[in-house]
Amino acid sequence: QRPLCRLLSCPGTVAAALGREEQSSGSAETGSENRTPKKRFSEVQKERREQAQRTVLIHCPNKLSEKKFLKYLSQHGSINNHFFYESFGLYAVVEFSQKESVASLQNVTRTPSLGTEAAIPFRSRYFNLKLKTPLNQTSEQPSIQCRTQSSPSSRKLFELLCCAESVDDQLDTLLRELQLTEEDTKLRYLTCSLIEDVAAAYFPDCTVRPFGSSVNSFGKLGCDLDMFLDLDEIEKFSTHKASGNFLMEFQVKNVPSERIATQKILSVVGECLDHFGPGCVGVQKILNARCPLVRFSHQASGFQCDLTTNNRIALKSSELLYMYGALDSRVRALVFSIRCWARAHSLTSSIPGAWITNFSLTMMVIFFLQRRSPPILPTLDYLKTLADAEDKCIIEGHNCTFVRDFNRIKPSGNAETLELLLKEFFEYFGNFAFNKNSINIRQGREQNKPESSPLHIQNPFETSLNISKNVSQSQLQKFVDLARESAWILHQEDKDRLSPSNNRPWGLAALLLPSVANSMSLAKKKKKPASERIKNLLESIKSSSTENSTATNG
Ligand code: GTP
Ligand code: MG
Repeated sequence: QRPLCRLLSCPGTVAAALGREEQSSGSAETGSENRTPKKRFSEVQKERREQAQRTVLIHCPNKLSEKKFLKYLSQHGSINNHFFYESFGLYAVVEFSQKESVASLQNVTRTPSLGTEAAIPFRSRYFNLKLKTPLNQTSEQPSIQCRTQSSPSSRKLFELLCCAESVDDQLDTLLRELQLTEEDTKLRYLTCSLIEDVAAAYFPDCTVRPFGSSVNSFGKLGCDLDMFLDLDEIEKFSTHKASGNFLMEFQVKNVPSERIATQKILSVVGECLDHFGPGCVGVQKILNARCPLVRFSHQASGFQCDLTTNNRIALKSSELLYMYGALDSRVRALVFSIRCWARAHSLTSSIPGAWITNFSLTMMVIFFLQRRSPPILPTLDYLKTLADAEDKCIIEGHNCTFVRDFNRIKPSGNAETLELLLKEFFEYFGNFAFNKNSINIRQGREQNKPESSPLHIQNPFETSLNISKNVSQSQLQKFVDLARESAWILHQEDKDRLSPSNNRPWGLAALLLPSVANSMSLAKKKKKPASERIKNLLESIKSSSTENSTATNG
C-alpha cells in the first residue's frame, strides 16, 4: 500500500469504505465486463422506456413503514422493483409489473383541495402520499434505506484514490464511484417519461428520449439530463397505415422553416411544462439558440433538464459513444479520468463559453485510442463497412450508418495498461499539431484543418462541421499546458517509484489537485503580464458571445 493510505488510515477496500455494494448496472448494460452479453443501444432504450412507463414517483412522509407502504400499493398490482431516495424530502420510485396498475392507482388518487390557492387538476404519475394519522413519533420504525443519488465528496474520492493499489486501480475507482447508478439511470428514464406525459397533451404518441451523457455510458452522477421530443414516431405510424391507391395527409399549418416549426413546438411545450408540469420549475425557453431548447429543473429528481426537438443526430452520436464505451473496458475509465481532470482544472465548465466541452474531450479520447498500435478502438468508417442493411441510417441527408451488433466487431489485441494510456494521452495531445491538424474519428487519422478555428474536431455525422468551434486559442493553450504538465508529473512518479518515501498524493490523485498543477506552472513560468491576461479574457468573451447559449455547436 502507498504511504498516504496509512496517513489517512484508509479502511479496507474501496467498496467497504463507502459502505456500498458493487454497482453491476453499468457493466451489465455497457458490457464492460467481458463475460456479460452486450446489449444494443436500441434494446436498452426500449427496455428502459417501457419500464419507466410502468413506474410512478411518490413524495412520501419522512416517517413511513416501508412494509405497509408496499402492501398499500400492491392493491393495484404486483411491484417489480422499488427504491427510496432523498432530495428535499423522501421519494419512492415504484415500478409495477403492469402498466394498468398505474391507471388503477390514478383512479383512487384525488386532486388536493388547497386553502387559499387553487390546484390545476393535472393527473400525472407523480404523487404525494399523506398519512391519515401520523405515525406515532415514539413507535420504532425501521429506518428506510435510501439510495444515494450524489457522488462522494471530493475529499472522500481523494482518499479512495490515494488508497488505490495502482494507477490502473485509481482509474477504475474513479469510474466506479462517479458513474451513474442503476437507480439514477431509472430516475432519468422516469423523468423523461413524466415529461412525455406533459408533451402528450399537445402531441399524443410523441416520445421523449434521453440522449447525451445520461445514456452514452459516460455520464457522471449529477450530470444534466438531455432529452428530445421525438415526433417522427408519429410519422412512422401514418406511413404504415397508407394502403391501396389512396394517401391520406393531415391538414396542417405551414411555417417558413423547420427551425420555426421547432421553435413553435418547443414554445408551447415549454408553456405547458411551466403551467402544468408537476415539479418542473425555472422553465426557460431558449429558442434563439442554434439548437433551440427549453431548460428547466425537475425538482423531485434534482435533474437540470434540457429539452430539444428534432435532434436525431445527437441521439445517433449518443449511440455511437455508447458503442465505443462498451467495446473495450478501458475506454470509459479513461474518459472519466480525462473529464474529471479537465473539470478539476476548470478546462470545462457548466456555463457555455469558449471552453472545451465534455463531448469534445470524449472525441479526443476515442481518437487517441484509434491511434494506438494496435488500435484499441476501430474507426467510424470501419464500423460503417461492417454495417448490414438494417443498420442503414440516413438523417437529414447525413449518412449515420454503422454496425450496431457488438458480435461483429473483433476485440482489440492491444493490452496497454490504463496507466500507460493516461500518460500517453497527455503526451500525445501535449504535442499535437493543433494549428494544422484536425481530429477525425471517422478516419482515425489527423487531417488538414479545413478552417482556422484553434481546435478542430470533425462532427462524426455532419462532417463539414466542427464540434469545438467555440474553443478559443487561450483555452486550447491552457489544455496543452496542463496536458504537458500532467505527463511530466506522471513521468516524475515513474522515477520516484522505487523510493515512495514521502506522504504525498500520487498518480491520478496528484493530477486532479489543482494546486499541484498551479504551483508547478507558477514555478515554471512567471505570471503572464496583465495585458496578456486581459487579451485572453477578451478573446474568451468574444468567442463565447459569437456562440449561442448552448454547447451544441454544429
Ligand atoms: P455532459 O457534459 O455530461 O452533459 O456531457 P454530454 O455528452 O451530455 O454533453 P451535452 O449535454 O453538452 O450535450 C448533449 C449531447 O449533445 C452530446 O452527447 C452530443 O451528442 C450532442 N452535442 C453536444 N455538443 C455538441 C456539438 O458541439 N456538436 C454536436 N453535433 N453535437 C453536440
Ligand atoms: Mg449532457
